[in-house]
Amino acid sequence: MGFRWSRRGILQAGATASLGVFGGKHVLASPAFHINRSQGTRPLVISSGNGLEACAKAMEMLQADEDTLDAVIAGVNIVEEDPGDMSVGYGGLPNESGTVQLDSSVMHGPTRNGGAVASIEGIKNPSKVAKIVMERTDHVLIVGQGAQDLAKAHGFPVENLLTDRARERWLQWRENMSDRDDWLPVQRAGDGRGGLDPTADHGAADEFDPFFRYHGTINCNCVNADGDISGVTTTSGLSWKIPGRVGDSPILGAGLYVDNDVGAAGSTGRGEANLLDCCSFLAVEFMRQGMHPKDACLAVMRRVAAKTVDPRLLREDGTPNFSLNFYALNKAGEYGGANFRPSRFVVNDGGESRHEDSAYLWERDQ
Ligand code: GLY
Repeated sequence: MGFRWSRRGILQAGATASLGVFGGKHVLASPAFHINRSQGTRPLVISSGNGLEACAKAMEMLQADEDTLDAVIAGVNIVEEDPGDMSVGYGGLPNESGTVQLDSSVMHGPTRNGGAVASIEGIKNPSKVAKIVMERTDHVLIVGQGAQDLAKAHGFPVENLLTDRARERWLQWRENMSDRDDWLPVQRAGDGRGGLDPTADHGAADEFDPFFRYHGTINCNCVNADGDISGVTTTSGLSWKIPGRVGDSPILGAGLYVDNDVGAAGSTGRGEANLLDCCSFLAVEFMRQGMHPKDACLAVMRRVAAKTVDPRLLREDGTPNFSLNFYALNKAGEYGGANFRPSRFVVNDGGESRHEDSAYLWERDQ
């Protein structure tokens, strides 16, 4: 299926130089949808689509003149502690061994500093530990047992983060992996073979696909009334990942980047695609060159699409078969988000948090 051109899309295509060819199409100059650009407003908080409450909390703190990083961390802590969000913190989907391993990064614009933790186990709020790495060590990234030890030293309790709901989903995935192992696939209750009760409350279990790899995450960025900027990204990472796999979220420049002179950008979705191009850094650099945050996010999406050549990662029409989101704001309080296909992100400019449509390159069925 071909591209759907629109007048706005053509204008957008003209605004971004054609730098490469993808699948026979000039993807770096392809049209885009939902490219209306925001005005600047401060204070401002934006996040991935799962951050309605996070943005509201962060805005409340900015309006009380609290620190920008404290504000976004307090916001994402709500999601980290929510067992209903299976992509972040407590209740996150585990790795292939059934263990929840979390990644997080923070960047504080005013002090030009950052910190991160990766593959940390048993700590509900990895974003708070990332801040400790930033403030209480001379390091930027601490992983695994070392990260947990640091958290314990600072009084964090070690807890079981695997909820029953996440454990049951992991079991469903494990049992459906292969018909050549000893794990029996999920059976309906009452058929004499045990298995999960299909009437039990698994939340969004109806939509759960054991073969799908979930990449959920929250990224939250803000700029206060004075123009100071901070950001945080926190995640349980790719579901059923190989133990020790680290995604983009704790890598400064990939899952998050903040430059107090320019803006902030962060990501959710397939971390591997982001890691290969350091896309949050790239988005901030595009903004430094004068791009509106939404155009910077779109330019990054085009870059990733152009670099995606492995047939495993492509649809039949040659477009990427995975989801990747970027969210960005600049010092003036302009903002935007983008994905390959229709998606939403959260904005709070002082009132209630709301969802807005991200810009995108291809329609969902394309
Ligand atoms: N973006 C989250 C991850 O890939 O781990």
